[in-house]
This record gives sequence, structure tokens and C-alpha cells, in this order.
Amino acid sequence: MRTETPVTIRLKDYQPPAYWIKNCALIIRIFANHTEVDSTLTMVRNGDPSELPALVLDGVEQLIQSLSFDGEAITDYDYQHDRLTVQPTQAEFTFNAVTHIFPNTNTSLEGLYKSGTMVCTQCEAEGFRKITFYLDRPDVMATFSTRIEADQAPFPILLANGNPTASGELEQGRHFATWDDPFAKPAYLFATVAGDLVRRDDAFTTASGRDISLRIFAEPHNAHKTEFALTALKKSMRWDEERFGREYDLDIFMIVASDFFNMGAMENKGLNIFNSAAVLATPETASDDRFERIEGIVAHEYFHNWSGNRVTCRDWFQLSLKEGFTVYRDAEFTSDLHDRAVKRIKDVLFLKNHQFPQDGGPNAHPVQPQEYIEINNFYTVTVYEKGAEIVGMLHTLLGDRPFRQACDLYFERFDGMAVTTDDFVDCMAQISGQDFSQFKRWYTQAGTPIVAIHEDYDANLARYRLSFTQSCPATPGQSDKQPLVIPVKMALLDSTGQALPIDCNGDYNADTQVLTLTEAVTTVTFQHLASQPTPSLFRDFSAPVRVRQALSDPALLLLAQHDDNAFNRFEAVQQVYLDTLLKLTRGELDAIPALVDTVVLSILSDTQLSHALQAVLLSLPSYQQMMDNLDTVDAEAVIVARDRLKLHLAQTYQSHWATLSQTLTSADDYVFTADEVGRRELQGLALYYWVLSGDKFGLNSAEALYRAAQNQTDRLNGLKAVMASPDRDRQQRLLVHFYRHWHQDTQMVETWLALQAGAEGVGVTDILLLMAHDAFDFTNPNKVRSVLGGFTQNFKAFHDIQGDGYNFMSEQIVALNAINPQVAARFVGVFERWRKFAPERSAAMHSALTAVLETESLSPDVLELVQKTLV
Ligand code: PHE
Ligand code: ZN
Repeated sequence: MRTETPVTIRLKDYQPPAYWIKNCALIIRIFANHTEVDSTLTMVRNGDPSELPALVLDGVEQLIQSLSFDGEAITDYDYQHDRLTVQPTQAEFTFNAVTHIFPNTNTSLEGLYKSGTMVCTQCEAEGFRKITFYLDRPDVMATFSTRIEADQAPFPILLANGNPTASGELEQGRHFATWDDPFAKPAYLFATVAGDLVRRDDAFTTASGRDISLRIFAEPHNAHKTEFALTALKKSMRWDEERFGREYDLDIFMIVASDFFNMGAMENKGLNIFNSAAVLATPETASDDRFERIEGIVAHEYFHNWSGNRVTCRDWFQLSLKEGFTVYRDAEFTSDLHDRAVKRIKDVLFLKNHQFPQDGGPNAHPVQPQEYIEINNFYTVTVYEKGAEIVGMLHTLLGDRPFRQACDLYFERFDGMAVTTDDFVDCMAQISGQDFSQFKRWYTQAGTPIVAIHEDYDANLARYRLSFTQSCPATPGQSDKQPLVIPVKMALLDSTGQALPIDCNGDYNADTQVLTLTEAVTTVTFQHLASQPTPSLFRDFSAPVRVRQALSDPALLLLAQHDDNAFNRFEAVQQVYLDTLLKLTRGELDAIPALVDTVVLSILSDTQLSHALQAVLLSLPSYQQMMDNLDTVDAEAVIVARDRLKLHLAQTYQSHWATLSQTLTSADDYVFTADEVGRRELQGLALYYWVLSGDKFGLNSAEALYRAAQNQTDRLNGLKAVMASPDRDRQQRLLVHFYRHWHQDTQMVETWLALQAGAEGVGVTDILLLMAHDAFDFTNPNKVRSVLGGFTQNFKAFHDIQGDGYNFMSEQIVALNAINPQVAARFVGVFERWRKFAPERSAAMHSALTAVLETESLSPDVLELVQKTLV
């Protein structure tokens, strides 16, 4: 653990480095109990060569064997607080360091660490300094050559970035491999892997006719699960050529699956390393949503080869430059491959469930943060998902062709460079001729804007007016908010839901328009409207804002039944549910309003709708969304309200659920297509409601689906429905059966743990039992996320005031802090909205957080978040 007091890093303090590193030549010698790293950096002064400031290199827990300049031993050096200070005497020189590091005991999973039987690296954001001394910052870009040496028996496969150049045997059963990466890159993109891995091969011919070898590596027990990812990779490569004109550049592209990984995956140049859970799948073991996730992540990491690697970030404040853009790109990929409307709906749900609460809470920060203590804490839904929304708005404002041209310009102009979000937006400005200076506030201003809509119709003048008032609540450290540029994709609908031709002062004239708000208040007038239209605003969620719009029931119903923009139809339906849930929570309703039933019936009877759309339209808003729309949360009331509406749907439409789940059954082989995914999703939902309705036939049918399942989606649809029943014995039987059958499969065991941690009625005692189970491993982030993540996302269980969930999680954060600070810090987020809860819970959460803060030797990761959350 670091002992120094944490330092705040600020964007405004950015300085270019005093030296550049042109080349990094590494020799990594892996031994049983330690690894020796021999690093030679070819360096040059950046600035006046007659003045040579001290060279300050980052380095964490380096056991120094030797240091030298141009072969001359350095005896005079200072190594403290994770920094090595030496004094160069030339403007151009080589610096060599030989150090020892200890992968076997590295539980932080940053730098070089042991993962199962293999050894691998994770360097983003600042892990390279745990491998050797370096200028560990993204604007220092070097070519790398890597030689790895290890015992041949346990480590037959030796990988690093770039193209393979040589390999051979050494004495005493050892061997080596050398790799060369000709593309200058920051150290965060470095990777090496040594292990006994099984490889699946394929090939890809690029648009310009270059042949690329594709290889996915996994430990032997996972080797049968890599085919899907390989197919996804080939689709991604083709798509990036067709949609963005981006071709792959090295001769080989590799993916390695690692069972121990802090995040989803990592885009290391030519050698992506993936969390096993984010790459391994067979129909037997992975459900549809897992397949979707894997396909998206494979694409995401591959797309980083251009948006992130070829053009990288100047500093970590620019993180969204690569992440926001790449999330945008992978969402486009998924939309092109599958169902665009459904993908959009799911992404917006994710944003509303996770990013809106962050933006409204104590850890709200701009997409381009202005300061941080620990950069790992800024891999957030704001930087990623809100960042992607910003890119989406740029696309909307420019239109398809100019947006593509601006992206081309960006890649061409900045290839091989480390740049800023300003540079990105400037390309948009140059191509479109528009001024984006106000638009850039999206990067610097935190908080979710609120857009209040006011309508005014004058029948005599056949004139309709819409006024938009934008505001943004204060966020920590940012009380003054400026108006943003907000694109409003819209249409005006007639009473049948048809879009009306728009005559808007001659400015806008097609049926669907994009209005651009720039002022605090904008009023738009539409002429020649013989009757009052219904506005369909923010189509496809054209801006990440909260819309405040008092729609009459008939208007809401029109949108919910007839809006031809599937996203807005979904929004209207959700609004009907959410209004009901909030009123129930506040005790303002005696019965479920008829509007709900009208809406539900029309969805159930709409044969035009795809199964996937029907499924999302029949799903209720989450607890998070309810909380996000309440000033003070009475957790019991929220739970009772949601249960009540759910039960109402389950019971009122029992026969529909029964029919749906039976008719949607299929005995065909599993295929992963949008249609089939939709069918299974709707069947799962119907079965769940059917069981919830209390019908014994439903429960039997759910168990039958579980038992007969030939794929994981059906199996989980059955099991989750059984878990929704009060029949504890039956649940237990199936869970025992599941484990007996699948205990040798890591991904299945993770699912099994998560299912139990997320089950109705679990308490801290059950969670402790899971943690005592053989299948659990506190040093494995996936297992921890399955159990503790499953528990904390289990709203009823975690917030049970009879239970001790808050103190329990406080203890777990402290325990994790000593093992893996990144994973520990993620769990601080479960307390993020503590202020929103009514006094009893709020106080309990506050004291649980305070207990964490009072712990000795907290990592900067946990410390920063706990401090901010408590303020
Ligand atoms: N850069 C990775 C991605 O989003 C995320 C990541 C960050 C992985 C830090 C590991 C560590 O694609
Ligand atoms: Zn990414």
C-alpha cells in the first residue's frame, strides 16, 4: 500500500514531458518466484538540449538490480514515493533498468500478475509502472520490442504486442520469444502473456488485400468456448472497414481470455486481453444477453485499434476521447447487426439506471474531469456512456456523411498522436463549418440537463408553439451552469399517430426535424396546423437530458400506441408505468389506473411489434429509476409499489402470459439472431409473470423449461421464473442440480453464485455461506462481483433494514481494499445515493461509509470515493 498522502492531479497543470521515449526494449524473464525485467529506453530531451532537467520515472514496488545510462552504472539515484529520479548528462541517451517484480503475490491485477495457470499484464491506466521504470503517461509514445523468457513446460506460449520475430530454446528447459511492435504507443497499451494456452486460429483478408492471422487463446479448460468471439472479431473487422474506412494494421491480432481480470477487456495493441466472462461463450453456458455483451466487447476492443491506439489520449482527462467514441462505435456496430431500436432502448435504460444517478449524486463529474486523485476511479458510466451520447449528438448535428468525413479527418490528422477531445470536436467543426465552442460545454459541465416543455396551440391561427426551457442542477464544485447545445429530434403527430408535415417559419420543413436548442429558453412556432398535434420529442433519445413534459393521458396514450419512433413509443409506455409507480410509492393511488391496462393490452395485442420490442415494452422501470425520480426514498414504499404493479400485470394478464410462454416455445437448435433472441426474451418474461401470478401450471412449466433446456437462455428463463415463486424447496432442488451439473465450468459457477445472491429473501447469512463455499474466491473479481454485486443489486436484500447489509458491505470493502483496490472502490458506489434515503437508512449508510473511512491504510482508490461520497 502507498503511504504518501494522495495527490490531486489537475488538467490545468498539464505539462509536456521533459524527455521522450523513442523505443522501449524489454527482456522479461519469468521465474518461479519472481520476474526479472530488463528495460532499455532510448530517450531524447523534449525542449532545450542544453538544459537537462532531472529525469523522473514512475515505478512501483521495483526491486532495483541495476540502473545505467548508455551502459554506465548509475549510483546516484533517488527512489521514493513511486518515483525514480536520475540526472541525465546527454540530450540523447539510453536508460537501462534491471528490476525484480513479484507477479505471484500481485492481487491488484495491475502490472504483471498471475491469472490461474498463466501470467499476464494489465497496464491501463497506470499499471506499466508496476512492471518497470517508465514515463507512464499516454502522451509518451514509443515503439516496443519484447523478449520473454520462461520455463517451457508451464509456459509454452509466450506473447507480446506486435508481430512475432523469433523464438527458440534456451538452457535448463527454458525458451524465449521476441515480438516487435512498429507502431509507437503509450505504455498503457503494452501487454505480455505467458501460459499453457490453447489457440483457435482464423484468418482475415483486409479490404486492401492484406492477410491477417487471428488467434484466440484460452486455458485448456476454456478452449471450447472461443469460437463465437472469433466470429464476432471478423464481423468487427469488416464493419470498421465498411462504416469507418478503418483497416487493421499488424500481421496478427490476438485475444487472450483471463479468469482474473478487473474490468471487461483491454485493447492492448494486437494483443487484447479479456476477462473470460467477456469472451468465452457456448450456447450451453452463455445466455443471449451474454452473447450480445461479448459481441459488443470484442467489437469495442477491436475498434480501439483506431479510436484509442492509432490516435490516443494526451492525458487521462481525455479518457472519453477514446472511450466515449469507441462506445459510440460499438453501439453502431450492434445496431447495424441486430435491431437498432432495441439496442437504443437498452442503452438508454443503462444510461438512466446508472449514469443519471451518478450525475445527480456526490460523484458527479464532467465527461472530461478537471481533476482526480486516482484515475482508476474515472472509468465511469459518465466518461463512457455519456461520452458516447456526446458523439451521438455530434452525429445528429452533422448528419451521416459529414460525420463520417469528420471522423476520417480526425484519424488522418492525428494518426500516431496523443490528442484531446477538443481536437476531436474541431474536426467536426471544420467539416461542418459550424461553431462548436458552446457544444464543448458537454465535456466540461457535469450534471444531467433538464428540459421543460411547454405547449401552446392557437386554433384560430392554426398555430402551435413549443417552448423549451433548459436548466441544469448544481453538481459538486460546479454551481454555475451554462446552456448547452441540445439537438431535439422531433415530429408532430396527428390524432392517428401520423407525422405531420412541419411548417416552422420556413426553417424546418420535413416530417422529422432536428431542432437545436442553444439558449436557456427556445420557442419554436409551427404554422398551418388545423388541429392540435401531439409532439414526439427527443426521438431516439437525441440528447442525454431529463425531459419534463406534462402530457395529457390521451397524448401519452397516442404516443404509447402509435408513435412510429419505436424509442419514443417505449418512452411513453415507461412514462405510464413510472407515473403509476411513483404515485403508488407516495400513496396517491388506490387502484392501478386504467391507462396502464389500456397500454399493456395494446402491446400484448399488437402483432406488428417484434418480440424483442414487446418484451422491453412490457418491462417495468427499475428501482434505480424510481429512486432517481423521487426526492426522498422510502425503500419499503418503493418495494411495495413495484411489487404491486408487477403482481397486477402478472395476475390481470395471466392467460396471456400462459399462452405466450407456451406458443413461444421452440425445439429448434439455438441460433443467435435478433429474431430468436427476441422470442426467447419475450418467452422468459411471459414465464416469469405467469409464475408470479401464482399459477401452479406456470411454475411446473418453468421447471420443465429448465430441465429440458438445450441452451443457457432457456435454462435461465426457467430457473429465474422458478426463483420468482415462493416455492423455496423447488428452487433449492434446481440450484443443487445446477451446481452438480456445472460446477466445473467457471462461467456457470459465476452465474450460479449471482443467481443466489440476487434471489428474493437472501440475507447477509446466506451471502456469507456463499462466500464460504468452495466455488468462491475472494481474490477473483468475477466471483466477488457475482456474490457481492448480486447482493448489492438485490434492492430488497441490500436495503433490508432488518438485515445488516450496509455494515456487511462496509466490511467487505475494507477487506477487498487490502487485496484489490480497484474492485474495492467499485463497491463504494453502492452507497452513492445514501442521501436520498429516508433518515433511518440514510444514517445507517452514512455510518457504514464512515467505518470504511476510519480504516487504516486505505488505497487512494477507496479513499477518494469514500471522501467524495460522504461530503
Ligand atoms: N480500456 C478498457 C476498455 O474500455 C477498459 C479498461 C480500463 C480495462 C482499465 C482495464 C483497465 O476497453
Ligand atoms: Zn474502451
